[in-house]
Amino acid sequence: MTITRTLVRGVGGYLPQRILTNQELEKTVDTSHEWIVQRTGIEQRHVAAEGEFTSDLATHAAKRALASAKMSIEDIDLIIVATTTPDLTFPATAALVQNKLGMSHGIAFDMQAVCSGFVYAMATADSYLKNGLAKRALVIGAETATRILDWEDRTTCVLFGDGAGAVVVEAVQLDEGAPEQGILASRLRSDGTQWEKLYTDGGVSTTGTNGHVRMQGKEVFRHAVGMITDVVDGVLADAGYTADQLDWFVPHQANRRIIDGAGKKVGIPPEKVIITVNKHANTSAASVPMALNEAVADGRIKPGDLVMLEAMGGGFTWGATLIRWTD
Ligand code: ACO
Repeated sequence: MTITRTLVRGVGGYLPQRILTNQELEKTVDTSHEWIVQRTGIEQRHVAAEGEFTSDLATHAAKRALASAKMSIEDIDLIIVATTTPDLTFPATAALVQNKLGMSHGIAFDMQAVCSGFVYAMATADSYLKNGLAKRALVIGAETATRILDWEDRTTCVLFGDGAGAVVVEAVQLDEGAPEQGILASRLRSDGTQWEKLYTDGGVSTTGTNGHVRMQGKEVFRHAVGMITDVVDGVLADAGYTADQLDWFVPHQANRRIIDGAGKKVGIPPEKVIITVNKHANTSAASVPMALNEAVADGRIKPGDLVMLEAMGGGFTWGATLIRWTD
């Protein structure tokens, strides 16, 4: 007897060149570097150039993930792009990425779960691969979040940045009893009754505009740690592990205080937590794969490691995925 497992084969990331520091923001809104760092941990963020779109960031990250997996686009038969900032209302940004990668076979679609999008996309790719709908997938989180900000609203405009991260995953048949590898368990959750705590004040069928990010910051903060802990503990229980067995915790990078609070409540020491929020700010669905990419590239995450991904965001949505890392 064999079982199907979804293994991570490669990781890539891409950040637009332009860096916007807190000091620069001080010149345009009533804020200070000290306030932003103390409340969020954010020191700077990257901003996409004029004419540089979400699909461009996604395509760069995808190419790097393919190179790291030693695969070509011909090997891929599924692309999922998690994004809240698509190039166009339609077609899906995934279809535009497919075009930029020169791929006309397989499946491509977007996943809209705001900051939880990448974790949702990983669980979705895992299901597609385990059900035989595809064999190898590019799972991408990509955002030009700075394009839906109200740059006069200091309570939100200091928090977000642009970027993309991608992984290549592959379905592999393992003998029953073989050492465990790949995605071990995932949990996804949403609670639409909370939507007004974090949303855009516009959209295609309401205002005919994109709208801007609106957030009840304190309310989001109040719910975040509990929701994260709920799914992380659930995934650990599903896979038969405890928090002290984790090698790495790769959280959504919204706010340093939320990350610290969640790590503490779950029981993960700070030295096992990957942090990029200081350099990237909150890149929504791109934050988890970019953090993952950084920790794999610098050699912290190694084959055999037990890695927990988690995210929460607008909706509310939240989720976690546990991976036994492979080569
Ligand atoms: N610079 C200076 N002062 C500011 C700024 C700013 N950028 N933003 C708000 N303030 C002021 C407020 O106006 C308020 O002033 P007042 O007391 O005179 O009214 C004061 O600072 C305190 O504001 P609070 O909203 O109470 O500040 P808080 O400590 O809650 O921090 C923050 C705000 C950072 C947004 C926090 O609530 C938070 O982190 N929330 C979580 C939300 C989050 O991270 N969202 C990211 C997107 S969601 C996601 O990805 C999951």
